[in-house]
Amino acid sequence: MTETQLEALLYENRHFTPAEEFSSQANVQSSDIYTEASDDRLGFWAKQSERLTWFKPWTQVLDWKPPFAQWFVDGKLNAAYNCVDRHLNSWRRNKAAIIFEGEGGDSRVLTYQDLYREVSKFANVLKSLGIKKGDRVTIYLPMIPEAAIAMLACARLGAPHSVIFGGFSAESLKDRILDAQAKVLITADGSFRKGNIVPLKANADNALQGVDCIEHVVVVNRTGHKVTMLEGRDVWYHDAMQKAAMACPVETMDAEDILFILYTSGTTGKPKGVVHTTGGYMVGVTTTHDWVFDLKEDDVYWCTADVGWITGHSYIVYGPLANGATILMYEGTPDYPAKDRYWEIIEKYSVTILYTAPTAIRTFMKWGTSYPEGRNISSLRLLGTVGEPINPEAWMWYHKHIGGERCPIVDTWWQTETGMIMMTPLPGVTKTKPGSCTIPFPGINVEVVDQSGNSVPKGSGGFLVIREPWPAMLRTVYNDPDRYIKTYWNNFEENYFTGDGAKWDDDGYFWLLGRVDDVINVSGHRIGTAEVESALVDYPLVAEAACIGKDHAVKGQAVVCFVTVKEGIEVIDGFVDELKGHVSSKIGSIARPDDIYLTAELPKTRSGKIMRRLLRDIAEGRALGDVSTLADAAVLDFLKRKYGDES
Ligand code: WTA
Repeated sequence: MTETQLEALLYENRHFTPAEEFSSQANVQSSDIYTEASDDRLGFWAKQSERLTWFKPWTQVLDWKPPFAQWFVDGKLNAAYNCVDRHLNSWRRNKAAIIFEGEGGDSRVLTYQDLYREVSKFANVLKSLGIKKGDRVTIYLPMIPEAAIAMLACARLGAPHSVIFGGFSAESLKDRILDAQAKVLITADGSFRKGNIVPLKANADNALQGVDCIEHVVVVNRTGHKVTMLEGRDVWYHDAMQKAAMACPVETMDAEDILFILYTSGTTGKPKGVVHTTGGYMVGVTTTHDWVFDLKEDDVYWCTADVGWITGHSYIVYGPLANGATILMYEGTPDYPAKDRYWEIIEKYSVTILYTAPTAIRTFMKWGTSYPEGRNISSLRLLGTVGEPINPEAWMWYHKHIGGERCPIVDTWWQTETGMIMMTPLPGVTKTKPGSCTIPFPGINVEVVDQSGNSVPKGSGGFLVIREPWPAMLRTVYNDPDRYIKTYWNNFEENYFTGDGAKWDDDGYFWLLGRVDDVINVSGHRIGTAEVESALVDYPLVAEAACIGKDHAVKGQAVVCFVTVKEGIEVIDGFVDELKGHVSSKIGSIARPDDIYLTAELPKTRSGKIMRRLLRDIAEGRALGDVSTLADAAVLDFLKRKYGDES
């Protein structure tokens, strides 16, 4: 974000007070909850834990040995039981749990009773394939009900799942399978994307070459195209389900047993396996889902994320289902078969709550108002955003054209690591300001600090840290506690470092300014610059690569790379496209660079560090800042002459 944009944000003084009509029916109606929670933070979370069904009560709310936390010590529970079984004792068993809409318009509804049957049966399938408590299962599926069923079946057995977004490449899948040493992989023949088929099973077959840990692959038949099944290793989901028994006892899990591992990008090349455990995570996501989205029994709640991301874990599967909500799950993209697909779905199912990403909103803005106007979307009563900072114009557009100026907007800040929403308005009580995620959720302590960890005065900016442990916090990096400590706890001692920069204003409202580490946020997806660089240097002709995030009007940021080729190499036409394709095939198409600039050298400091700030200035066509530390000024001259005026 540039200084000018930042200044504009801080002069943003529009604000919206919750409407009386909304407040008077809201799940939280009084702002007293903020002080109550901060006066007795642990008491607050202890009270929230009553939302769950525990097989054995916990004895201590928090055991904090920085930076290792245990929440709800000694408590026993099961996440799948909380999301499914416990709803069967009431009329809710006949309530829709999942409404599924396929890309091509096919649809399915699973009641809680249906979900119970499918989850139990699939847990038995996993058992028959040798899965028991503690074994890891990798899930590589499209956005179909089987994804939620597979996650919950793992949770039922106490087998940590690792869900890999279906857009990731075979190689990314392989790295993550190996890191988790998973025993079973669950995938599909393919997934539909804009009328084409993404060959998930073929990707999985490639990923599994040379992998010993996977004993079986379960394949869901989604697209029906021909795939190869390896005798003895691969089984069809529907075949196995047909033979599976209904009854499957629930495993009793400790509050601190792992519920799942989710890989996310960081500052080094290798993605980290963020570990979430059962008790605290479930308390965190259930509480926030209820209060932030003001959930009511008859809501139709739609979160447009993919289950492959944390948003899908916390706010499609675990939070909503533990709350007994009706969730909508959509397989496809917003523009297939037409650009009004989202509004068509909202009209079709009378969706009441929509939770999406700023990048999607900016795309809708670009397409114009005729698409939402052509559908009846008046069922909507609350809107949410997540994943990246939302610019005030996009917020206002969302408010006006989607929310009909009546729906509160919750801009929710959080991370894979936080597991749960950390900053957000409470829609019935918190005044909102377009572009700000407002203030921390009750019981959460977030601050903006300077380099030494001291709080900065209101009105200024710095690093965003979390002062105290919270229930859904990550517990460690899978098999790498050192990395957990180094990444999150080394900068500000006992404060968790988020990797984000932020300002807070005179009202104590937070304004997120994006990452301050080497992570790029493209359309709400985290991409490590080091990952892209290592994919590029893996290409035989490439000598060195530097990757940066460039401001982008729709995606928030775009991946831009500077590349030098090995000596004596003559670059031919099409080389840049070839390199872009190489990055897609190594990581996944979300990491495909928008631009690759070929250069004779990269600008480096005298100590050999690549000067990314300069590269960003060049890519964004800005006047160059301080270059006094640059080792060879000629490099810069060259880059500027070649690319500086293009953007
Ligand atoms: C960014 C997604 C501004 C932030 C849940 C964070 C946001 C990263 C917001 C985490 C928001 C997420 N406003 N920035 N409302 N929400 N971010 O792990 O930079 O995929 O650190 O989790 O997204 O991305 P992740």
